[in-house]
Amino acid sequence: MADPTRFDPFGALRGVLRPPADKSISHRAAMIAAMGTGETDVIGYLDAADTRSTLAAVQAVGARLVGESATATLAEDDGLGAARLRIAGVGLRGARPAAIDVGNAGTLLRLLPGWLAGQPQGKWTLDGDESIRKRPVDRVASPLREMGARLAARDDRLPPLEVEGASLHGITYELPAARDQVKSCLLFAGLLAAGETRVVEPLPTRDHSERMLAAAGAQVRREGDTVVIAPAERLEPGRIVVPADFSSAAFFIVAATIVPGSDVLLHQVGLNPTRTGLLDILRRMGAAKIEIADVAEDGGEPIGDIRVGHSELQGCEVGGADVPLAIDELPLVALAACFAAGTTTIRDAAELRKKESDRIATVTDALRALGGQVEATEDGMVIEGTGGLRGGAIDSHGDHRIAMLGAIAGAASREGVEVTNMGAAAVSYPGFEGDLGSLQQGPPLHDPVH
Ligand code: S3P
Repeated sequence: MADPTRFDPFGALRGVLRPPADKSISHRAAMIAAMGTGETDVIGYLDAADTRSTLAAVQAVGARLVGESATATLAEDDGLGAARLRIAGVGLRGARPAAIDVGNAGTLLRLLPGWLAGQPQGKWTLDGDESIRKRPVDRVASPLREMGARLAARDDRLPPLEVEGASLHGITYELPAARDQVKSCLLFAGLLAAGETRVVEPLPTRDHSERMLAAAGAQVRREGDTVVIAPAERLEPGRIVVPADFSSAAFFIVAATIVPGSDVLLHQVGLNPTRTGLLDILRRMGAAKIEIADVAEDGGEPIGDIRVGHSELQGCEVGGADVPLAIDELPLVALAACFAAGTTTIRDAAELRKKESDRIATVTDALRALGGQVEATEDGMVIEGTGGLRGGAIDSHGDHRIAMLGAIAGAASREGVEVTNMGAAAVSYPGFEGDLGSLQQGPPLHDPVH
């Protein structure tokens, strides 16, 4: 792949596509299938670097790919850019000891220890790439220890993380910040603990784990702001359907909103309300041409089509409950804000500093390099909209979402954008450049978006 990669403005984005499978749901599908008794069909598993790490991890602890998926490569997909897998689980208490390479996958790093910690027969080590070695694990280690788990981390805070299985007991844990990964980790641990485990959320976070565990037979319920899980003997997921990833669709949602004349239809996208906060933020900014259609539930998750056209935007305030519902889309909110009139303030988002890169720093630097007026704050950004971006050159810093942000900025800019290390996009969206290119001069859709 050429490095840097150039993205020139090509006018309106038009066309129809199905973004790749949901990364969050794919990680959970592989882990919960591995915990399962018997075989689980995963329909539409994401074929990307992060979710390959999870598949390798569950195989390392003893889960097996069976049937056609044992010999097919992930790339031999069903034509929708998504693979079908059949995974034979090891059962809730059957994980084999292993050294696990989590690659770049923060979700794998934080969720898997919850399951492993409650299995007294084993010892596991989780480690990954240079970026993962900077991502804190104390947020899961400390509540897991309260449950009786034995864990050790570098400087008590960072990977490698060692887990020595132990007998766990349920606790009530108030999340100090709205972090789904910690909630999900404790729910996994709760399956193997004595008594109920209760996790109190300060604000709602994504709830894919609860939905998938309930569908697999776990006793999990919500009581107000608290998720409660009971210990389980076994899980039987059977079949898990993975929708297209809203966080991947988000790049085209924002692109179509900021490039005049655009009309893009995104098919079969996950519309779980704990993930779609970007739509609410864009609507507050004045994006009137966002239509949702054909919503249906499959496997406990709402799935539907999103059609987006261009709108003039105004700045807005983003903070509080917006943040966990749009955590991975906040870089795109900052991009959209550059194309708006007036000021946009993003606050309460210090968590962005702990993602695949320090996204407050990398987004601010990138947008400024392209002519944006952006100031970083401790917990967010302040963006003065100027109605557009000049263009220029940025570095992804190995962060998939920054790479794709640069590409979208290029398509929407006046002079184009060069992105160094564009290959990082493959962490969640290997076909991204092809999909963006397919929207160039696509045929007009019928019935213009209103
Ligand atoms: C994820 C949760 C979020 C999100 C990450 C994926 C998940 O992280 O940013 O990309 O799959 O659970 P936090 O829970 O740490 O906010």
